[in-house]
Amino acid sequence: MKIQKQLYIFTILLVLFLTTSIISQSIHLQNPTGRDYTSLNGKWNIIVDPYENGYYDYRYQPNPNGYFKNRKMENRWDLIEYDFDKSPKINVPGDWNSQIDELYLYEGTVWYQRYFELKPEADGRYFIHFGAVNYESIIYVNVVLIGNHVGGFTSFTLEITDYVKEDTNFVVVKVDNKRKREAVPTLNTDWFNYGGITRDVHLIKTSKMFVSDYSISLADKKTDQIEVNLNIEGPLLPAKLSLEIPELEIKKELKIENSSTKFIIEASPILWNPDNPKLYDVLIKFGEEIITDKIGFRTISTDGTDILLNGKSIYLRGISIHEEAPFMNGARAYAEEHATTILGWAKELGCNFVRLAHYPHNEKMIKKADELGLLVWSENPVYWTILWENEATYKNAENQLVEMINRDKNRASVVLWSMSNETPINDPRLIFLKNLAAKARTMDPSRLITAALERHYINETTLMIDDPLGEFVDVIGCNEYIGWYDGLPEKAQKLSWQSIYDKPVIISEFGGGALFGHHGDELTRWTEEYQNSVYKNNIEMLDKVDFIKGMSPWILKDFRSPRRPLPQIQDFWNRKGLISDEGQRKSAFFTLQKFYSKKAEMGN
Ligand code: GCU
Repeated sequence: MKIQKQLYIFTILLVLFLTTSIISQSIHLQNPTGRDYTSLNGKWNIIVDPYENGYYDYRYQPNPNGYFKNRKMENRWDLIEYDFDKSPKINVPGDWNSQIDELYLYEGTVWYQRYFELKPEADGRYFIHFGAVNYESIIYVNVVLIGNHVGGFTSFTLEITDYVKEDTNFVVVKVDNKRKREAVPTLNTDWFNYGGITRDVHLIKTSKMFVSDYSISLADKKTDQIEVNLNIEGPLLPAKLSLEIPELEIKKELKIENSSTKFIIEASPILWNPDNPKLYDVLIKFGEEIITDKIGFRTISTDGTDILLNGKSIYLRGISIHEEAPFMNGARAYAEEHATTILGWAKELGCNFVRLAHYPHNEKMIKKADELGLLVWSENPVYWTILWENEATYKNAENQLVEMINRDKNRASVVLWSMSNETPINDPRLIFLKNLAAKARTMDPSRLITAALERHYINETTLMIDDPLGEFVDVIGCNEYIGWYDGLPEKAQKLSWQSIYDKPVIISEFGGGALFGHHGDELTRWTEEYQNSVYKNNIEMLDKVDFIKGMSPWILKDFRSPRRPLPQIQDFWNRKGLISDEGQRKSAFFTLQKFYSKKAEMGN
């Protein structure tokens, strides 16, 4: 009897451990869709759980019988007060706000669940990969707590090898999109807090020993050498690896002896640029596996106030973009066709550059920018006034930065890592952001560091850029709203700009709001004419400033924001788009398009 009792207690403790202590087998797996993967996209069952009843018991303690157990009645007397199989369904990927009317403004927990079939192989390893889940998630597979993730815009991968079985398995995800003061971003943002599993979910199979991560780029600004870095996961058994770039007649074979391997290949690829976005097929063959990727080769640097792409100065003809799918009345973008439409509009505008605000966009946007020849500013969501002195907030911001860089370090289009947007000047903020900048440089010395900094008037007509953060970035971003938040449009004609830095400046935002089809004179707020006057006056002013080497006006498309309630004009939309959510071009679109066409003709 005693042994039975001990066995029973051990079993209870084991179940408690497996369902409450985070196993967190998270790993960075480079380029998941270039591998052997199965999509878990599609209809998932959901349970809306505002009181987190599926996680906590009535004493607010983690409940070992939470919803993650996906329990079914075995006896007619069983008490189970949930049932995923009979619950509503939702599409994954996609936010819940735009899919279910009752969840339009919902902020809280939603449980997701689905089954998946598997025939696990003896020497296989299995991972589940999430493109993004906004904002906090806890992941369970076959009742076992696999890991958790914080951050709504970066991908993560968890190993599930030890917990999957033959035939039917199930995954349960607790998603909580509540905004928090200590989070990144913090409570207040000027964008919509779309919650859910907002990007793709994949099941990935690898061998016991496999290439987990790699970076392939020109060696330190040299255009005749390619540097390859490879990370190998798993038991180090003698094995051969080959890296092939067929179009360059490269087939490098090597014996793998260390978990980290770096080598140089002599080659002079055609350099990627917006007019010729040349991408090369790359194959990494290791054991049974082949990883395929498409990689462009280019250099990016600065020289004084010039930005140099492949050693030639370039003017960044940009536009800012939020990750919102057009024609969907407000929804997170996630699909290839969303990227094609959005970036197609940027190309139509005459852009060679896009500022993907204010967080890392989905991977399809970046790969589409590689294909279309659009330089990318990719941004960590350190937005406005976060808790600079909170250690956990810094760790969260740094983790999201690391995940952003790790995911896109092989994308030629990404040239700028942005640390932050419009943060107040104070010492804790400076320490926080210069530490992030140092982390980014250590991880990726090949790209430029930037951020949207502050500026101020030193007299009635002179704007000064001397934000101390400028010392720690390569390119100064600066938002200004002359003619919208700051005076009327013609005020721009009286202004001049100064900067204490011998560094390039990009005006990372300017603009004004207009409801498409609303017309009046140039001083009637919210008309297309007023917005157009903001553009004409700001373009004229900025084009005279010689240290300004680019702009990304705010913003390509109207986007949903709970900060914009003005009836019949905003109706919870930020109307600074050059294009309405239905794809209608406002007058200012054509003004900017004309300016960029002239810049392009002048070779900028
Ligand atoms: C700010 C901010 C944007 C915001 C914009 C606006 O500059 O960076 O996120 O949407 O202004 O007020 O429309």
